[in-house]
Amino acid sequence: MKVLAINGSHRKGSTFILLEEALKELKDFETEIISLCDYKLEYCKVCNACKRNGGVCIVKDGYEEIAKKLKEADAVIVGSPVYFGSVTGMLKTLFDRSRTLRINWDLKNKICAAISVGATKHGGQEHTLQAIQAWALIHGMIFVADSDPTAHFGCAAVAKQTENGFEIDEWGLQTARSVGKRIKEVLNLLKEK
Ligand SMILES: Cc1cc2nc3c(=O)[nH]c(=O)nc-3n(C[C@H](O)[C@H](O)[C@H](O)COP(=O)(O)O)c2cc1C
Repeated sequence: MKVLAINGSHRKGSTFILLEEALKELKDFETEIISLCDYKLEYCKVCNACKRNGGVCIVKDGYEEIAKKLKEADAVIVGSPVYFGSVTGMLKTLFDRSRTLRINWDLKNKICAAISVGATKHGGQEHTLQAIQAWALIHGMIFVADSDPTAHFGCAAVAKQTENGFEIDEWGLQTARSVGKRIKEVLNLLKEK
């Protein structure tokens, strides 16, 4: 089974570190992290070509590669820094482009979980998690949160950038691990069926 982690940050920073932390719990599965900053995704042009042609985006900018990875995944962890209380522009652009995957419900019944990180406590992490959850639910995905002992809405972390890298709060790191554990739990249930 495959787990795809999507780093919605405009760089490889604290979100990437938290995704790695979650994936450490998923060593029994095939895992991959992609960073949206490695792509140059254009906005959805609302040309509606995907609606007429069975879900293929006619804009050739690397989106199709991400769409293929999403289709092949059994579980997806979506990570975003908080930007003005919500997801980044890059991640929202991917969400909008993913309309192609809803034509044939390609993401239906895949597991999805979310990771968010801000520079301040109460900086909008929960709202960011909800924005990711909304995307997952609109695709018919099965959204899971973090598991015991943190167990709320997903990973919500606070990160400070220092000269040596990033300092991430211990509770936030623990919520990331809990997200990984929860995905493992649900994937194992599915494997048994
Ligand atoms: C445009 C912009 C808006 C931001 N807005 C918020 C915010 O609303 N709340 C918050 O806590 N942090 C905010 N931040 C800080 C980032 O969420 C924080 O630095 C995060 O760790 C960055 O993640 P990254 O290291 O993966 O890029 C903002 C940063 C940027 C660049």
